[in-house]
Amino acid sequence: MAKPTIADRKPFETKLETGKTYYWCACGRSNNQPFCDGSHAGTEFEPVAFKAKEENNWLCMCKHSNNPPYCDGSHASLPSDETAEVKATMADGSVLSMC
Ligand code: FES
Repeated sequence: MAKPTIADRKPFETKLETGKTYYWCACGRSNNQPFCDGSHAGTEFEPVAFKAKEENNWLCMCKHSNNPPYCDGSHASLPSDETAEVKATMADGSVLSMC
């Protein structure tokens, strides 16, 4: 199973409209963190749809929460050497993956 990209090692505090549906980025690749921008296309990840239950929210940015989209403190136990997976497409079309 692929690892999600760690967008940040701390949660993101945001005010949301109660009852409105949002799509939390699970792959960590979105440029609109912590929300989905479609960057998961071609990966095994799918965004997590959720309705905001309250106005103030702490959303997970490390993408390792066991209660997505909310922070559950898992970011505090990530290994310090675990970094975002970096991929580069080479001129010959091969993909170079670095962690
Ligand atoms: S930011 Fe992911 S669990 Fe806290």
